[in-house]
Amino acid sequence: MVRSIALVFGTRPEAIKLAPLYLELARRPGEFKPLIWATAQHRQMLDQVMEIFGLKADRDFNLMKPSQTLTDVTVAVLKAMEKAFAEERPDCVIVQGDTTTAFAAALAAYYQRIPVGHVEAGLRTGDKFAPYPEEMNRRLVTPIADLHFAPTEQARRNLLAEEIPSKDVFVTGNTVIDALQIVVDMVRRDPPPRPKGFPEETFGDERRLVLITGHRRENFGAGFESICKAIAELAERYPQHEFVYPVHLNPNVQEPVHRLLGGRKNIHLIKPQDYKPFVWAMDQCYFLLSDSGGVQEEAPHLGKPVLVMRETTERPEAVEAGTARLVGTDAEKIVSEAVRLMDDRDAYESMRRAHNPFGDGKACHRIAEKLAERI
Ligand code: UD1
Ligand code: UDP
Repeated sequence: MVRSIALVFGTRPEAIKLAPLYLELARRPGEFKPLIWATAQHRQMLDQVMEIFGLKADRDFNLMKPSQTLTDVTVAVLKAMEKAFAEERPDCVIVQGDTTTAFAAALAAYYQRIPVGHVEAGLRTGDKFAPYPEEMNRRLVTPIADLHFAPTEQARRNLLAEEIPSKDVFVTGNTVIDALQIVVDMVRRDPPPRPKGFPEETFGDERRLVLITGHRRENFGAGFESICKAIAELAERYPQHEFVYPVHLNPNVQEPVHRLLGGRKNIHLIKPQDYKPFVWAMDQCYFLLSDSGGVQEEAPHLGKPVLVMRETTERPEAVEAGTARLVGTDAEKIVSEAVRLMDDRDAYESMRRAHNPFGDGKACHRIAEKLAERI
């Protein structure tokens, strides 16, 4: 029996994390007909990922609007899905993570009584406003989903604590590691051209690369001002090192970052990078400053310390493994932890160990096996 599986996604991280699942399902044509339904909650940043993995949308809803609100996205996805399901009814809908696309697509599938599989299920901070709105999105997907693909044991425990039946919860590892393994092999074999705006020098101990990302809604305003202040201070303190920040396209990020960090010699504000050059840059860097979910999962795999500019994390495994440290958005704290990594070799080495609490690169295979069994 061939099952049609609609992978519904819209943003950069969902595409990265569902690309290897699409490729796995597509390798098994006797069992699966995978469909890509791209809401395009992100436009440019989604297309960047599709290209690298050679993906083509079966349906592209092209929903992104500049400065869209959460309501805009929720309503647009619900409407688009309702129409699509009326035309074509997949055997299962797969959503990933905690975006508004994931929540609204799951809800739309539930309205049509279509089974839902949730990839990266069970992450929790316990604070419904952090991250905002992601903590609520993923909590709301949980009671809707029929199959819960938890990346770690901790995530599984979180789901069982919410009385999700254990027969429906599968620990698979995070599919981001499947994606990362594919791309890290590529870039180590064949490094991509140096991204535009990147410093020309070779990186080493004399000239280190600090790689930065940041885009969380709960950090907008004061949080971003403080993060930028810390980065400016670090760049002044270490003029011999380079600080590279591919700036997220959200206008709430672009504005403060360019205003507060533009025009400095060793701070390089560049466009969001394709996944390949970004993975190359992570592999080159000394450490990362980030509030990203995906980066917290990738950094331990690459053995790169990451200072997490958030008050709380749904990925405690990286902190427990020692590769990630929560530093919040207080400028003084960010600076003092970064200085420790720069100046204290032992502190740096103790965080640098490559460790992989999030998976072994076989998550998609495990998910496909369960889909074959249950759908
Ligand atoms: C979204 C997700 C967040 C995820 C992040 C990954 C929600 C509510 N938020 O946040 O969970 O961590 O993506 O990056 O689902 N924009 C562009 N081009 C793009 C992408 C964004 O111009 O390719 C601009 C647009 O003005 C858009 C705005 O950024 O309106 C915000 O995009 P949106 O998807 O609503 O929120 P993100 O902050 O990107
Ligand atoms: N990433 C990328 N290009 C960039 C910055 C990040 O490809 O310029 C990748 C990163 O490796 C990770 C994912 O995008 O896999 C994280 O996306 P983001 O930070 O936008 O979202 P989050 O993971 O926080 O939801």
